[in-house]
Amino acid sequence: MTQHVYDDYFFDEPAYNTHDGGYVPLEVADAPESQLAIPPLLKPDKETDTDAWYTLEAQKGETQILPGAKTKTWGYNAPLLGTTLAFEVGKHIHVTLKNSLDELTTFHWHGLSVSGPYVDGGCHAPVYPGESKQIDFTLDQPAATTWLHAHPCPSTAEQVWHGLAAMVLVRDQHEASLPLPRTYGVDDIPLVLQDRRFHENNQWDYHADYDPDGVQGPTAMINGTVNPVFDVTTQKLRLRILDGANRREWRLHFSDDLEFTQIASDSSLLPEPVHFTHLMLTCAERAEIIVDFKNYKEGDTVTLFSDDVPIVKFRIHAFKPDNSVLPDHLIDIHAPKVLPTTPVRKIVMSGMDEQVAIDGKKFNMQRIDATQPIGLAQYWDVTNTNTMHGGMVHPFHVHGTQFLVISRNGGAPYPNEHGYKDTVGVNPGETVRLLVRFDLPGVYMYHCHIIEHEDGGMMAQIQTYDPNKPMPKYRLMDMETLTQAFAKERGVDPDTMWMAGMDSYKKMGMKM
Ligand code: C2O
Ligand code: CU
Ligand code: CU
Repeated sequence: MTQHVYDDYFFDEPAYNTHDGGYVPLEVADAPESQLAIPPLLKPDKETDTDAWYTLEAQKGETQILPGAKTKTWGYNAPLLGTTLAFEVGKHIHVTLKNSLDELTTFHWHGLSVSGPYVDGGCHAPVYPGESKQIDFTLDQPAATTWLHAHPCPSTAEQVWHGLAAMVLVRDQHEASLPLPRTYGVDDIPLVLQDRRFHENNQWDYHADYDPDGVQGPTAMINGTVNPVFDVTTQKLRLRILDGANRREWRLHFSDDLEFTQIASDSSLLPEPVHFTHLMLTCAERAEIIVDFKNYKEGDTVTLFSDDVPIVKFRIHAFKPDNSVLPDHLIDIHAPKVLPTTPVRKIVMSGMDEQVAIDGKKFNMQRIDATQPIGLAQYWDVTNTNTMHGGMVHPFHVHGTQFLVISRNGGAPYPNEHGYKDTVGVNPGETVRLLVRFDLPGVYMYHCHIIEHEDGGMMAQIQTYDPNKPMPKYRLMDMETLTQAFAKERGVDPDTMWMAGMDSYKKMGMKM
């Protein structure tokens, strides 16, 4: 049987962010090649058959990214980005969240079904500088590549830009039973795709680069490495790719148009592997792909590009033949039950620049925008009202759940959207239908994952509840408290303090 190989990006070409006036194209990095950094796996402080304890420390540091001066960076247990976490489904996980920064932060588990709003780590769960918090959770969700990032609205974008982003691998027995590469750092490789502009002395300057439609830089940075090379010592590689950029879409393809196979999207394996030569990821989306180097030999180099800029080089070394066969079927997706009465919720993402909004409103931490009972799926029809002319693909993300993509403008979702996801790119003028079920009660945010759009108010929140219990009242953060805290920590006057998202509210004559 010949397999179908997709060679287009699916997304509408006129909607690519390359068409936006403020777009910053990637440039070929003129830095010397360096070995691709592989974030080490974080070892638990303690582990038993049933429980595991970890400590995560948000910290500042310095990183040698370019020759010359080190860049001031932030990370989790590392000067930049983080250590990779690996959680087993069913284990009781205890995490100490320690903030060694000079300002408040939060620890958001993007893609984990954990209870909101506190364990989930959105803006309602600040950890103040010098303080620690304990959280614990047990995961009940399929194996996936998820991530951890800072989420202290409206400074989420800036803190992620400083480096507060780490991979979180969810492992389960089903995934472990499949013939897939899983030796971390050898044939199972995280690739966090980001972009930065290096200013004087190799420093980043978020404020100088600020754009309300998302901050970009011309230099691709992969796992914190510019111009990285990876030494391939196995025939097959599993790449866990995360679009960890604030705003950039990545249009990925290899030299020689090498075919690759996507086996997982954001929140689970795909029911069937999908074969590609080209793949586009929008912000916060993940793809696990298998690359087979069988037609290459020692000494060859295979390059991964985004558009036409090389971003990672794979240097091929001698490897043992690998005849493992990828199964045709990787996972059973059990769609949540739908009834003739299943409600359809309409969600509208509108605007660009400072005008961005959800359902015509900007985010307000104290306002609950919607409610949904746990255990019961609802359709979410998410519309992007931008037009192709000057509009954008808005990556729509929901906290605390993994959804299914049901349709795009009434037609089939893209072929690699048949697994669980938590982020979906919505084209200008398009309505994407999702099937969303929450299993835990709490308050969860949903928003555009162009992080500056999120900070700028293209965000809302939903309270999920157990219909058999009284509606709990959650203590929700407010902007006043957060701004005062940031101002105090930064030693500046709250009225003159600059924070990214605030501009968008001010220019619209609104209070946060
Ligand atoms: Cu990546 Cu509100 O999250
Ligand atoms: Cu999230
Ligand atoms: Cu957006």
